[in-house]
Amino acid sequence: MIIHDRFGRTVKNLRISVTPACNLNCIYCHREGLYSLYHCIKGDASRRPLTPDEIKAIVKTLVKYGIREVKLTGGEPLLRRDITEIIRKIREIKEIKDISLVTNGHFLSDRALELKESGLDRVNVSLPALDPEKYSFITGYKRSDGVDRVINGIKRAIEVGLDPVKINVVVLRDINSGELDRFINLGEELGAVIQFIELQDPNGFKSDFFKKYYYSLSELENKLSRKAKKIYVREMHNRKRFMLDNGVEVEVVRPMFNRDFCMHCNRIRLTYFGEFKPCLMRDDNHVPINGSFSDPGEIEKAFLKAVKIREPYFS
Ligand code: 5AD
Repeated sequence: MIIHDRFGRTVKNLRISVTPACNLNCIYCHREGLYSLYHCIKGDASRRPLTPDEIKAIVKTLVKYGIREVKLTGGEPLLRRDITEIIRKIREIKEIKDISLVTNGHFLSDRALELKESGLDRVNVSLPALDPEKYSFITGYKRSDGVDRVINGIKRAIEVGLDPVKINVVVLRDINSGELDRFINLGEELGAVIQFIELQDPNGFKSDFFKKYYYSLSELENKLSRKAKKIYVREMHNRKRFMLDNGVEVEVVRPMFNRDFCMHCNRIRLTYFGEFKPCLMRDDNHVPINGSFSDPGEIEKAFLKAVKIREPYFS
């Protein structure tokens, strides 16, 4: 039974945060909308993360209502030793057509093969700058080999057959907004998709941070529209994908002040401690799974309630 929310939207994509812990501390990180503050606290010991079996029980229950794609995120999901077990368990559910993961790439060259072998389809790698100093400024990574580590991870992911490999670039005014062409060249060199993302701020748009760093991608989108040899529109969020002459594929994610983005949103989130989260931008409408995280009745009840209260953030 495919379910629709009050706005006629289906929910096909489940984004699961598997841990709050991260080895980096990115200045822009929205931390999947979980806390109204910047900077990672390194894990919150008071909440127990879902186990692989619990995650499987939840996904299995939601398949009945139309969930077909799962994205694993964090924190940094590769900090979970059992990440491959999580993937394997989800892969056992035959209705799930797409399993992806978003990572900062630091442990990717070591783990890409086991991720692929456990059934991961594809990966998004966050790489917010190509200049090592800028990379350190954004991520808090102290050494100068950050960019190289991530690029090695990307190469390895491509080599083992994760497909596509996307590079996530959150664009920040005057920090990396001058590097966009370099990123496109890197995409060509590596055979990776480049995904430029507008800065989102669950703390509100009046924050000094947002005012200082927000950089609209509308101009970039126009430029790519003129240059692209083909443009596709993805069902998810109505995102545009541009195929360039040099073979590079560029995706532009423009959520901000964008009704169209919200009206085409088919995503719901699950926190690492078992709450459904209807919208990245809000933390006042989470729906916890009560009782056991593997009880289909409780999972269903919480999910249906979360879908019922879904509403476009920009409307
Ligand atoms: N705005 C937009 N995208 C963000 N991401 C993290 N924080 C933000 C933000 N404030 C994206 C990064 C990362 C993914 C998990 O979420 O691209 O790759």
